Amino acid sequence: MTEPDAPAREDGGARRPERRPRRSDRPGRQDWSSWPEYDAAAAGFRGYWYPVTWSSHVTGKPTAVTLCGEKIALVRDSGQVYALHDRCPHRGVPLSLGDQQFPGTLSCPYHGWTFRLGDGQLCAVITDGPDSRIRGKLGVRTYPTAERLGMVWVYVPLGDEEPHPIDSQLPEELVENAFMMGGRIEPRAGNWRFACENGFDEGHAKYLHRTSLWRLFKAMPTWNITRIVPEGRWIFRVQDEVHWEADFPGVGRWTSKRWWKIQPPKETFNLGNTGKPKKVDPVIESRGFPGFASLSMPGVLRIAYPNFIHYEFYVPVDADNHQYVGVMVNFTEGWKTLGFYAKYLGAIRWLFHGQFSGQDAWMVDVTDAPPEKLYRPDVSLTAWRTLAEEETAKKRAELGAK
Ligand code: FES
Ligand SMILES: [Fe+2]
Repeated sequence: MTEPDAPAREDGGARRPERRPRRSDRPGRQDWSSWPEYDAAAAGFRGYWYPVTWSSHVTGKPTAVTLCGEKIALVRDSGQVYALHDRCPHRGVPLSLGDQQFPGTLSCPYHGWTFRLGDGQLCAVITDGPDSRIRGKLGVRTYPTAERLGMVWVYVPLGDEEPHPIDSQLPEELVENAFMMGGRIEPRAGNWRFACENGFDEGHAKYLHRTSLWRLFKAMPTWNITRIVPEGRWIFRVQDEVHWEADFPGVGRWTSKRWWKIQPPKETFNLGNTGKPKKVDPVIESRGFPGFASLSMPGVLRIAYPNFIHYEFYVPVDADNHQYVGVMVNFTEGWKTLGFYAKYLGAIRWLFHGQFSGQDAWMVDVTDAPPEKLYRPDVSLTAWRTLAEEETAKKRAELGAK
């Protein structure tokens, strides 16, 4: 930071009008007031579906999750997943500690207040008898649920609106095609916005991940010139220039190229940090992505490679914790899926969703902003915040909510 009040020149020279400090001299952004909705969304954006756990983890025995700061009890009954506010109105005990005494209900473990799964109504009070006067007078909040990609998704409303169809929020190619997937769900420390910003962050991958085993045989660029291209509800990072090495004035040359790494391609392709491959998956090719990294609300990252797509869903738990959901998808069918799944279990899960992504988790945990002083590659961050701001304004207008 420069000193705001530099001493006046003492050489008797004529006084010049005060110059506004150059952008790079300014102290940087002290807060996120330019993005008020984003700033206020520490515990997540409401009005969206979020993946909370694997479908197979939700059974007749309740499971507790926290989403957007709200405690939720999940339970499966006759194949259907139900989500109830995880707090008994009697004395505040978590309903997720209870169990099912009657079909289609969940009973609190303390005094047996029993709630209907469908609408949360208090339908029986076991310890107050069949004619309990409080029965039917109150209930707990319920949340819409859905199952996609082998996971349970919960909708957190903004007001009292009906949820939008979940498929309209998923990456389009996952709704229209058959695919094989492998994934990892991991609770992580740090605000969900840092995780999401890290996912789309232009500058970090080539530097932070240069030491990852996933990139052991592949060099990463040194620096890029990047442009953000909006397309529908997505923003794409498009690389206009890719530089694999550079001379830095006064300090020297820097590259992540090494003798044991594959030489970087002459020309980079729009999918992955690679040259044009021999074969591109037809589903991926047909999408015509302008760049390999794209992001949409409420924090869905898509990294497209020539033959698979990696997605990250950043799920807000509360202001200090999030859940990382990483999914790798291959659009094959039949016996070919076995090969991909073997590759996922044998390598991708450990190298990419494990060690590589662990470097991100480390940075997300220690990021501390604002204040912040953004630099040229951070156009990826500001474009995302602006997208979040615009989409939220649209949503509020649609719902007529204040
Ligand atoms: S606290 Fe739930 S029934 Fe008493
Ligand atoms: Fe990363």
